Amino acid sequence: MKITKICCIGAGYVGGPTMAVIAQKCPHIQVTVVDLNEQRIIDWNDPNTDNIPIYEPGLSEIVAEARGRNLFFSTEVEKAIDEAQVIFISVNTPTKTYGKGKGMAADLKYIELCARQIAKVAKENKIVVEKSTLPVRTAEAIKSILDNTGNGVQFQILSNPEFLAEGTAVTDLLNPDRILIGGDTTPEGEEAIKALVDVYANWVDKEKILTTNVWSSELSKLTANAFLAQRISSINAMSELCEKTGADVNEVARAIGMDSRIGPKFLKASVGFGGSCFQKDILNLVYIAKSYGLNEVADYWEQVIIMNDHQKKRFSSKIVQTLYNTVADKKIAFLGWAFKKDTNDTRESAAIYVADDLINEQARISVYDPKVSKTKILNDLNYLETRSVEENNLAVSTFASAYDACKDAHAIAILTEWDEFTTYDWQKIYDSMHKPAFLFDGRNILDAKKLESIGFIYNGIGS
Ligand code: UDX
Ligand code: UDX
Ligand code: ADP
Repeated sequence: MKITKICCIGAGYVGGPTMAVIAQKCPHIQVTVVDLNEQRIIDWNDPNTDNIPIYEPGLSEIVAEARGRNLFFSTEVEKAIDEAQVIFISVNTPTKTYGKGKGMAADLKYIELCARQIAKVAKENKIVVEKSTLPVRTAEAIKSILDNTGNGVQFQILSNPEFLAEGTAVTDLLNPDRILIGGDTTPEGEEAIKALVDVYANWVDKEKILTTNVWSSELSKLTANAFLAQRISSINAMSELCEKTGADVNEVARAIGMDSRIGPKFLKASVGFGGSCFQKDILNLVYIAKSYGLNEVADYWEQVIIMNDHQKKRFSSKIVQTLYNTVADKKIAFLGWAFKKDTNDTRESAAIYVADDLINEQARISVYDPKVSKTKILNDLNYLETRSVEENNLAVSTFASAYDACKDAHAIAILTEWDEFTTYDWQKIYDSMHKPAFLFDGRNILDAKKLESIGFIYNGIGS
């Protein structure tokens, strides 16, 4: 089977960039990305591609090249499903906020809606691809809905998890470490797998394209994220011990990273990991393990989250303690709000939780982030429902420059590792602050010696 038309349901952080790259690399395939959110589609269709709703280095250029040629963004979900041979499901799967599995299990209501919509519309055989990260055995649920509510046509369900990281989405998509495709081991399943392999083979080496059964593919995605998050919690656990013993976590990370069995990546101690995936996927893994009665497995992975929550709390407590046990009415400047650099995404960002703690201590927070809007920052805080919207409005101000955010501050906290923070005139910032001027570097990106020579009281993570 040769694929000429693809539909992707969900124009978010995963669906948008992934489909843009498929369209760029496969000019012979028509790719339509659909979303229920009308504004999102309007933004993807903005004549100026710098205004597309997701900021990723290199993405606007790719959209400029492919959009209108073979890449389309639309709200006509049914039409796009009807025309396509392959439908990617790339909708959000947040942690459940209600009912059984609340706070742990993935909420699959958006996935189920998609499956029902596909079943209703499809008049020919289709390949349905799970792109969202899902609990193991979701494919089975999708298949059951499709087979029992559909028009008698055949569906093949493939699992094709996305491993891109935000901020490097385009490079990750262009040069993936691997592409993973899981499918049925029946002849029809194998034919569907092959059709999808052929799409990726337009730009990815065949030996990097792994094919497995559906369950291995689904579980591999959860496992990869759990392992990555575990490395961060492990090094963060050591950072607390380093602070007590006089060891330096950067030196420890370097020393262990040179062991080829450990490797140097993902060993940066920080204020804690954020992002839409790590916490959600681990909670999901914990929930699945518990549901099979595997309590030791569940407890093992849950500890990764417990450590991460502790690291965020520890950072805010340290600020309060160092500022003579009170931050009431003090201005604390936040440099960075995104969960990592080079993205405007703030989901689960450590900044949200640190700010929430400090506002509880009656601090005033002034934020500068090069890519995050005030509306988003306030939404993030309001979502926690710790206090009223009015109180958050009063506690938080935002600035278009770091120099303005830091003026008259009692302390600065670095929450995101944006490159530009290392290039600032720190003497100028120091001169504009209350003294003693405290700096809490939650990302260990600044030169401690240099800042101390200016006069800052510098606090890094793990030293
Ligand atoms: C270990 C460290 O590797 C070494 O750097 C340190 O100096 C001493 O401790 P050792 O205990 O000799 O070395 O052997 P190692 O190869 O690390 O194996 C330790 C145990 O882990 C063995 O029982 C091995 O069978 C087991 N193992 C290792 C696994 O079960 N799975 C693996 O993937 C690797
Ligand atoms: C992650 C996975 O890397 C990706 O493969 C998967 O598809 C989605 O989830 P993402 O969440 O976009 O990607 O970013 P990632 O680079 O993994 O960073 C996650 C968080 O960990 C960030 O808050 C980052 O700042 C933090 N982090 C990362 C550290 O604190 N230390 C590190 O050494 C690495
Ligand atoms: P991710 O990081 O997984 O890409 P996002 O929240 O960025 O998550 O994107 C998911 C998108 O899916 C959102 O824009 C949302 O509006 C869209 N979506 C959710 N359910 C449906 C649906 N049934 N049909 C079309 N779009 C949907």
